[in-house]
Amino acid sequence: MRLDEKVALVTGAGRGIGRACALAFAEAGADIVVAARTEEQLADVCGDIEALGRRCHAVPTDLADGGQVQRLADEALAAFGCVDILVNNAGVAIHHPVPDIPTDVWDLTMAVNVRAPFLLTRALWTHMVERGGGCILNVASVSGKRAGAGNATYSASKYAIIGFTESLSKAGREVNIRACAVCPGPVATVMRAGNNPSENPADILTPEDLAELALFVATRPPRVVLQEVVMELNPSGTG
Ligand SMILES: NC(=O)c1ccc[n+]([C@@H]2O[C@H](COP(=O)([O-])OP(=O)(O)OC[C@H]3O[C@@H](n4cnc5c(N)ncnc54)[C@H](OP(=O)(O)O)[C@@H]3O)[C@@H](O)[C@H]2O)c1
Repeated sequence: MRLDEKVALVTGAGRGIGRACALAFAEAGADIVVAARTEEQLADVCGDIEALGRRCHAVPTDLADGGQVQRLADEALAAFGCVDILVNNAGVAIHHPVPDIPTDVWDLTMAVNVRAPFLLTRALWTHMVERGGGCILNVASVSGKRAGAGNATYSASKYAIIGFTESLSKAGREVNIRACAVCPGPVATVMRAGNNPSENPADILTPEDLAELALFVATRPPRVVLQEVVMELNPSGTG
């Protein structure tokens, strides 16, 4: 199935998983609104989307700022008149031992990983209902399925977004809004490399693996519920 005449809003689309999702959706026919803080990366992905023959609108946004998140939703609707698919992908992963977790790191993580997806969902939900449906993909993590000793903040945020998504999935069934939490294992991105500098990126999942999954989820017919999808790494399948 394709996404012709659909509009997708992808957060964290400047690089990594978000960029790969934005390009995959554009290849499938969608116009894309891209958001992140780094304007050069947004300009770069916009150029690639336009080279595919699709329209792209960049909205530089700090998702930790609630006012900017609301402006992003408003600008997305103003740019293309609708949003059919919301991909809450942007995230931060800052790890400290529990006694050393700074309160501002906890607050930033919750603001970007949990509050921004909530604010965008709230801003677009009624619009999607009035359009007859929509799709919300929340990029969570396997860290939202099992926590490690060293990632309490990140894991708490990912457990939260999975719970939020389960509620959205159930609330959305009556109004044809399909919500799914996508839970990747390790993916070769800037975030992963920053926290695992000695790891070979060729030994883990690729952003394109996740983009193919996101496209599959976004193109299911209304009768199909995919509330949560976990993509694990099989180390013996790499290299
Ligand atoms: N890589 C992995 O192994 C892995 C595994 C499981 C889940 N995930 C999840 O996948 C998602 C994408 O991660 P990634 O690995 O692709 O990371 P990435 O390469 O670091 O990309 C993160 C994106 O989020 C944006 N972002 C971060 N903070 C932001 C803020 N305050 N406001 C707006 N945008 C912000 C970044 O743009 P700017 O910095 O320009 O703002 C960037 O575009 C995250 O939710 C992450 O938790 C990743």
